[in-house]
Amino acid sequence: REEIEAFVIENEQTLEQFRIQFVGRKGRLAELFEGLKDVPNELKREVGQALNAVKNAAEEKFQNAQESFNSKKSKVEIPSDLTLSGPFAQGTMHPLTLVRERIIEIFNRIGFSVSDGPEIEKDFYNFTALNFPENHPAREMQDTFFIEKGKGAVQDDVLLRTHTSNVQIRLMEYQKPPIRSIMPGRVFRNEAISARAHCLFHQVEGLYVDKKVSFKDLKDTLYHFAKEMFGKDTKVRFRPSYFPFTEPSAEMDITCLICKGEGCNVCKQAGWVEIAGAGMVDPNVLENVGIDSKEYTGFAFGMGIERITMLKYQIKDLRLFTENDVRFLKQFN
Ligand code: PHE
Repeated sequence: REEIEAFVIENEQTLEQFRIQFVGRKGRLAELFEGLKDVPNELKREVGQALNAVKNAAEEKFQNAQESFNSKKSKVEIPSDLTLSGPFAQGTMHPLTLVRERIIEIFNRIGFSVSDGPEIEKDFYNFTALNFPENHPAREMQDTFFIEKGKGAVQDDVLLRTHTSNVQIRLMEYQKPPIRSIMPGRVFRNEAISARAHCLFHQVEGLYVDKKVSFKDLKDTLYHFAKEMFGKDTKVRFRPSYFPFTEPSAEMDITCLICKGEGCNVCKQAGWVEIAGAGMVDPNVLENVGIDSKEYTGFAFGMGIERITMLKYQIKDLRLFTENDVRFLKQFN
């Protein structure tokens, strides 16, 4: 009994030694029980009880040690409460994700669904179906990354989409009006990286096609968006513009929230900053996808998520979004 008590079980190897030495089939206790038959009859009872007590003590010691090793092991591998947070610092949402989710929420509430489309795209969906004539200079405006020359027709060329307007076409090919959807996604342009521009950025396209959709609907929708996103005091203005796929076309500016009207790196035009291109869907575009332009009209708009995020959070340099500096990222909770 003293030997058993003195034995130190400190790890799994010594636990095994203990088992072999004392409690195993060929251990000391088994040997002692074996000797019981030579004990005189009148002492058998007493010796037997004493041996049993020692055996119980040894088994208890063995089991306790074994359990404590097992529970240590399982604490490392499987936490007993899986909802507890891990030993890592908690991450934060990327500001572009936060703003994209907010944009989706604002448009969802006024009946817009969310649609998706490919980033690697045929010229047809990025340009031709959107009423960009084959040699039109507007194609050059968009600094396209071309991937593959198609066999013959320009519209079979493969490229990285330069805007999310490709999803307009795919959606209208796939679904009959009424259509009311927004299309967030990544777009690519071969531009030098600076505080205001990047070769990869994010846009959200919007499309509404139905009977009697008007320019007033477009303005109301974008006003509503600007006020929800930036606050009800935000000033908005529309300027005439040109896009091959909308007629008439406009650009929407809001008052710059970074310099508050002084003119800065982000707004340039003294206090106003462009946040969206928009217009009534050109009848040619509707006809290209087999929608009768006498029966249906529509509006479309497109905006850059980076620009909106910069205004919302007063971020002066677009490169911060892709540098992965945790001091920047952890500010957005
Ligand atoms: N696709 C245009 C761009 O990237 C934006 C736009 C979308 C304009 C929809 C009008 C309508 O510049």
